[in-house]
Amino acid sequence: MSVQSETAPDTAAPGGLDRWRELRALQQPAWPDQEALRAVTSELATQPPLVFAGEADNLRERLAAASRGEAFLLQGGDCAETFAEITADNIRDKIKTILQMAVVLTYGASIPIIKMGRMAGQFAKPRSSDVETRDGVTLPAYRGDIINSFEFTAESRIPDPQRLLAAYRSSATSLNLIRAFTQGGFADLRRVHEWNRGFLDNPAYAAYDAFAGEIDRAIRFMQAAGADFDALRTVDFYSSHEGLLLDYERPLTRIDSRTGLAYDCSAHFLWIGERTRQLDGAHVDFFSRVRNPLGVKLGPTSTVADAVALIDRLNPDGEPGRLTFITRMGAGKVRDLLPALVEGVAADGRPVTWVCDPMHGNGITSGNGYKTRRFTDVIDEVRGFFEVHRSLGTVPGGLHVELTGDDVTEVLGGSEEIDDVGLTRRYTTLVDPRLNHQQSLEMAFLVAEMLRDS
Ligand code: PEP
Ligand code: CO
Repeated sequence: MSVQSETAPDTAAPGGLDRWRELRALQQPAWPDQEALRAVTSELATQPPLVFAGEADNLRERLAAASRGEAFLLQGGDCAETFAEITADNIRDKIKTILQMAVVLTYGASIPIIKMGRMAGQFAKPRSSDVETRDGVTLPAYRGDIINSFEFTAESRIPDPQRLLAAYRSSATSLNLIRAFTQGGFADLRRVHEWNRGFLDNPAYAAYDAFAGEIDRAIRFMQAAGADFDALRTVDFYSSHEGLLLDYERPLTRIDSRTGLAYDCSAHFLWIGERTRQLDGAHVDFFSRVRNPLGVKLGPTSTVADAVALIDRLNPDGEPGRLTFITRMGAGKVRDLLPALVEGVAADGRPVTWVCDPMHGNGITSGNGYKTRRFTDVIDEVRGFFEVHRSLGTVPGGLHVELTGDDVTEVLGGSEEIDDVGLTRRYTTLVDPRLNHQQSLEMAFLVAEMLRDS
């Protein structure tokens, strides 16, 4: 793909890529200085793309395979990345966690796992309230590092367009590390498997011993049989984030010189959040015009009519892999609400890839005031997701998780039995609670068993 400016002629409908400006865009900041915003977006539009059209096309094909049950998506990372946490160690540990989970899932499912980070651009957050009050002081809400700062002062909470450039640079740095780690030998299957062995030395994980033993034997068998480990030294790793902040996504959208089509080059995969998926809204319009594979979050109020109308807007021709529905119903509701949705979409006939987000429907507040989730609820929603698809004969295509490679204490439970007091130890997320490294691996073992039985 050649690098062209945002002013290249686009092939979309009249108004094309800028039509969203005339529509209602929810969850956007009130930029105080429009001139400063214009200067920044013009500069962004001249910067090199972060990902390339061909990569997004490859991912679309991989997601098409997932929709048919020939692959499975593992998408994971922070709720909100922060500029301060873009360090080599943090990124390495997150990739490591996702790769370790992927080895376990690959074995469980005997199908390829598509690895994707909520990484290298997950900086903009939708909020349920525009303001936050602490000790009687009310300030604008934190909307992610791409917009304002978490620090609770009036000054820090003012939206600052310079942050768009900082987000672009941070994303470029992250992607550089991701490409190095996944292409340079760090992702070697044997090495990743060795890390999993380390995890299992902890007696809390005895339950997974048998499974891990099987993986061990499988890898030894492959080695003995002369499997081509050179081909297993590198992995494809895709980037994704919520396509929320249109003043960022628009200038990073470029026209592919081969095809004349628009790609949002800020990430391989973009998803539209639960709060911004209005059919006549700015987000659906903008993303309908880019070629990247897209996701849409579907929460408990989603109807079949909503889902089919989203297909009409985002994938009218029913191209496999183009559209992923990421359902987030909550453990208590998934078995009641998901069947009708899946059946209605199946009856429509145009393919979608179904992915389970077991995080966002399961938020609670702990007795001591922490925003948290129970590990058992998270696992139960995934179990419900598999049960529903199994009973309908449809395909569970992937898992979308908020996780970190660190040993934070943000989600209750898991083999280490984090309780309310445990949450106080290392609760560092600025927005939603994440599975820690151990909880993530534990989830992988549990989901591998579900995949094997599905
Ligand atoms: C998220 O993925 O962090 C998020 C805000 O999700 P949702 O749109 O499903 O609420
Ligand atoms: Co979140």
